[in-house]
Amino acid sequence: MALGHGHPRIVKAIQDQAVVLQQSILGNFTHPQAAELARRLALLMPTPDRHVLFASDGASAVEQALKIAMQYWNNIGRGEKHRFACLHGAYHGDTLGAMAVGYLDEWHRPFKPALSKAIQLPFPIAADAFSIWEEQLTQHRDELAAVIVEPLCLGAAGMLMYPAELLHKLGTWCKANEVLLIDDEIAMGFGRTGRMFAFEHAGVDPDLVCVGKALTGGALPMSATIAKNFLYETFGDEPADHTLQHGHTYCGNPIAAAAANEALRVYEEMGIAERAAALGKRLAAQLQALCNAPGVRDVRCLGLIGVVELEPNFGPNATFRPGWVRQRLQEQGVLLRPLGNVFYLMPPFIIKEEELDELVATFVAAIRAAL
Ligand SMILES: Cc1ncc(COP(=O)(O)O)c(C=O)c1O
Repeated sequence: MALGHGHPRIVKAIQDQAVVLQQSILGNFTHPQAAELARRLALLMPTPDRHVLFASDGASAVEQALKIAMQYWNNIGRGEKHRFACLHGAYHGDTLGAMAVGYLDEWHRPFKPALSKAIQLPFPIAADAFSIWEEQLTQHRDELAAVIVEPLCLGAAGMLMYPAELLHKLGTWCKANEVLLIDDEIAMGFGRTGRMFAFEHAGVDPDLVCVGKALTGGALPMSATIAKNFLYETFGDEPADHTLQHGHTYCGNPIAAAAANEALRVYEEMGIAERAAALGKRLAAQLQALCNAPGVRDVRCLGLIGVVELEPNFGPNATFRPGWVRQRLQEQGVLLRPLGNVFYLMPPFIIKEEELDELVATFVAAIRAAL
C-alpha cells in the first residue's frame, strides 16, 4: 500500500466517482477519469508522445506490452521479429505470456508446453560484463521483438539489484539494433527507487512501460501499458490484423481511474520520489548495523527498499529462521513476507520518520535475535 490503508483523499475520490459513473468498458467510448489518467501518465514519461492501454493487474499490463510489441513488427511487415529476451529469474506475473518471460523450471515446468521460449540473459551479472548479454542479443537480433526487464531490482528472485549502468547499456543496445525495450515498473514505479520510475536512473526511454500496484495508491486493482506513439500509429481497424485484439472488461474502470488520478496528485504534492530517496537514506543508514553481523550475507538498499539477506545455512536453526522472524515481527505488529533468507522492507511512503525508525529497530532486533 503505497499510501497506507484508507488514505482520506483516495477514499473520497472513490466515493465521489461511485455516484457519477461506476463502469464503462471503454469500447468506442471514453470518460473523463480515464482520459485524464492517460494524459497524466504520458506526462510522466520522458516525452509525452504516448498512448495508454489500461488493465486490471500487473500480469495483464505485461501481456499487453508483449502483444503490442509483437504485433507492431507484424504491422510493419517484419513478422519474423516475434521473440522476447528477458533477465533470468525476473518475475512479470502469472499468466502465460508473463510466465514465458519469467520462466523458471522449478516453478513453471507443468506449463512449459504452453510457453513460447524466451531468450534468457544470465543474471546476476557484473556491471562491466554487458558483453555476455550483447553476444546473446546480437545472435538473436533479427528475430527479437523486444527485451523485457524488471528495472534495477528483481523482486521475486530475491530483491536482487543491478546497477543502472547495465540498464543503460541494454537500452542503448536495443535502440541501435531495432529491438523494443519493455520496462516493467509494476513493483518499482511511482517513486519506490527514489526516482518517479526506475528507468530514470539509467537515462533510458523505454518503448513500453508497464505500471500497476501503486498506480491507485494500492487501493484498487488497476494497471496500464504506456506505449510510444510510433507503436500506436501502426495499429488501426483496417486491415483486421492491425487491430489490437485485446481488452479487459474493467479496462479503465472509472472508480479505479479516479483513485489513480488522486494518487498521482498526492504523489506530486508530497514529492514522492524525493521523499522516498530521503527516507531511503535513513533506512539504509540504520540497516548498516547489520552489515558485518555474522550470518548476514548482504545488506542492500535502493530508494525506499531495504534488504537483508542471510547466509542460508548459518547456525543450527537455519531452516526455521524465516518463519521465526516473520512470526516474531508479526507479534510486534510488523507484517513481513520473507523470500527464503531474504528479508525486505518496502514501507508505505506516508510513513513518518519516527515510525520508520521504530520499524527498522524492531526489524534489526528480530534479525539479530534469530541469528
Ligand atoms: C515486477 C512485477 N511485474 C508483474 C507483476 C504481476 O503483477 P500482478 O500480481 O498485479 O499481476 C508483479 C507482481 O508482484 C511484479 O512485481
